[in-house]
Amino acid sequence: MDIVQAAKSRYSTKVFDPTRKLPQEKIDAVKELIRFSPSSVNSQPWHFILASTEEGKQRIAKAAQENYAFNAAKILNASHVLVFCAKTGIDNDYIEALMAQEEKDGRFPTEEAKAAVRGGRGYFVNMHRFDLKDANHWMEKQVYLNVGTLLLGASTLEIDAVPIEGFDPKVLDEEFGLREKGYTSVVIVPLGYHAEDDFNAKTPKSRWDAETVFTEI
Ligand SMILES: Cc1cc2nc3c(=O)[nH]c(=O)nc-3n(C[C@H](O)[C@H](O)[C@H](O)COP(=O)(O)O)c2cc1C
Repeated sequence: MDIVQAAKSRYSTKVFDPTRKLPQEKIDAVKELIRFSPSSVNSQPWHFILASTEEGKQRIAKAAQENYAFNAAKILNASHVLVFCAKTGIDNDYIEALMAQEEKDGRFPTEEAKAAVRGGRGYFVNMHRFDLKDANHWMEKQVYLNVGTLLLGASTLEIDAVPIEGFDPKVLDEEFGLREKGYTSVVIVPLGYHAEDDFNAKTPKSRWDAETVFTEI
């Protein structure tokens, strides 16, 4: 599918068909899309919960039961549900683990190249940790970039999806012990196929026009 067409034809699915399941090849493709999403200094400050079972979806839907009931059915009726989680802290051990992975993957042809990566990565991480003091926010931004990668990619794979911020992250963090593991839940994305009666499938898109959002010089 043409990429612009994919961007225009995707939409936030409001009603999923509970009888249709995504084939495993599509799920495998989604997992690779997510794993290969870019992030600042290749920090990859994320973890993902992927629910395919009724029990798994029920556990995720707990976070939408109280104040976000309008989102619960999307989670329960989707074929699969992803929870995008962000790291809650970043330290030198994590940076060294990343360095080791990159070394294993052949990223450092010379010691100088390795030192340059360590320096650049340390610069950005320390800036957000100690100067701007917004490391959590910075890591969440990387997660949102990944959500964007998924949404466009899902469209090219002809998978319907909806990004969901309307849930209680405290409930989800507790349900999966995320805080103890160094993560917090950020966005839920149910995936699957829309139901016949999904009103949003036929609702026209609305965006600012190009003159409003671009300054071309
Ligand atoms: C970060 C984020 C959070 C969102 N949260 C919800 C949500 O909780 N429930 C919902 O039905 N839609 C949610 N949406 C969908 C937006 O309302 C939708 O993307 C926007 O209106 C544009 O429409 P489109 O996605 O159909 O192009 C969210 C979208 C984003 C990007």
